[in-house]
Amino acid sequence: MELFDLSGKVAVITGSSRGIGKAIAERLAEHGAKVVISSRKAGPCDEAAAEINAKYGAGRAMAVPANIASKEDLQRLVDETNAAWGRIDILVCNAASNPYAGPMAGISDEQFEKILQNNVISNHWLIQMVSPQMLERKDGSVIIVSSIGGLRGNALIGAYNISKAADMQLARNLAVEWGPSNVRVNTIAPGLVQTDFAKYLWENPELLKQVTEPAPLKRIGQPDEIAGAAVYLASPASAYMTGQTLVVDGGITIAW
Ligand SMILES: NC(=O)c1ccc[n+]([C@@H]2O[C@H](COP(=O)([O-])OP(=O)(O)OC[C@H]3O[C@@H](n4cnc5c(N)ncnc54)[C@H](OP(=O)(O)O)[C@@H]3O)[C@@H](O)[C@H]2O)c1
Repeated sequence: MELFDLSGKVAVITGSSRGIGKAIAERLAEHGAKVVISSRKAGPCDEAAAEINAKYGAGRAMAVPANIASKEDLQRLVDETNAAWGRIDILVCNAASNPYAGPMAGISDEQFEKILQNNVISNHWLIQMVSPQMLERKDGSVIIVSSIGGLRGNALIGAYNISKAADMQLARNLAVEWGPSNVRVNTIAPGLVQTDFAKYLWENPELLKQVTEPAPLKRIGQPDEIAGAAVYLASPASAYMTGQTLVVDGGITIAW
């Protein structure tokens, strides 16, 4: 149990009112962490926090709505967590945006900027807001939810994939900067997971077939199947791992 024990730890998870972020928050709480639920909408955040408190005891989850596009919101997320619980040990940058599908020639500057802002620069902002206390304590785990899209070229979601590849590099750079202070930075690269975010992919039978047929496990993933990777990266079990990308994709990236 000690290997995956998160008792006494405080975790902030962006985009945790539903989908992969919610599953991560639930599993981190199950392993002992106090978790901060965050997304743009207060209602769903309150509901997700209430579910965790009902399951694991009062005071295990709190909701702080924040839009990752806003630096002020992110600072408030960090400040309110520190004020309530005094620390942040685990940061999961999970929320992301993808407002465009199609060839690179068709993307507007506004769409490309939004993708780079929310998926890369906002992660950079939030990590920089949280890292000083981690560096001072010489202990911390930062997890960025990237995508196997960051490992592949793709004609439909090229700009999104560029942002997810940048997340992997962000993790590598910060891992080098902060390794000497025992602050670890890793990414998780999920394959297709059945959430609202990817509905346009898995609801299309042709696209679904393209993804499931070549995958060794022959199916898409569920949000909870990504959460174990986050528990691992947050916990002492991954103490010697930093700067890496953990692929959780039913095997599709290794199949030929
Ligand atoms: N699903 C997949 O197939 C898949 C595959 C690879 C990687 N990923 C990655 O996994 C992560 C989570 O995606 P998901 O599939 O779990 O999506 P999801 O089920 O749609 O959930 C997205 C979460 O992020 C929040 N959110 C969206 N925009 C936000 C913003 N601007 N600021 C703050 N919160 C925001 C949403 O709540 P509100 O709407 O209330 O803000 C929600 O809580 C993303 O980084 C995505 O790129 C997903």
